[in-house]
Amino acid sequence: MGNVILIGFMGCGKTTVGFRLSYRLRRSVIDTDKEIEREEKRTISDIFATDGEAYFRDRETACIRKLLGNASEQIISVGGGLPLREENRELLHELGQVFYLRVKAETVYERLKDDTTRPLLQGDDPLTKIRTLLEKRDPLYLSASDVVIDVDGKTFQQILDEIEQNVT
Ligand code: S3P
Repeated sequence: MGNVILIGFMGCGKTTVGFRLSYRLRRSVIDTDKEIEREEKRTISDIFATDGEAYFRDRETACIRKLLGNASEQIISVGGGLPLREENRELLHELGQVFYLRVKAETVYERLKDDTTRPLLQGDDPLTKIRTLLEKRDPLYLSASDVVIDVDGKTFQQILDEIEQNVT
């Protein structure tokens, strides 16, 4: 078993699934957003506000490059925008088996409508923002992934079972 990597849109459940999976498979879990916040000693919102999205994206690439050098048999959940760069998609494939937690825009909206920690979803009409981003990103998530798990309407138990059945 290599690393298990979780990708997908904001609010698809990557972080929670990652933690639960780590108990089940008895492996440690790493979250790229949390790694970056820890290294930078500031929140993602602060990073976006002060240094901009491009800076954050460079930090994401650096983060998975580093993991490629030292992570094995771990659960790795990555920020929703990380698979957008072609370079990152290649790195993810090298890093392990990639699971795409696919979610509908309406589900994301219900989960994140009061969230203030995702800079890309702030402002008016978050549902339209979610729809537009998701439409653009879905093909990239698909091309980055080895296994697709549709998560809408499923319990965590069901999602974890599906992942476990597909881990190679
Ligand atoms: C982002 C997703 C966030 C975080 C940042 C940008 C994105 O992570 O990396 O706000 O572009 O989709 P989560 O997917 O964990 O919310």
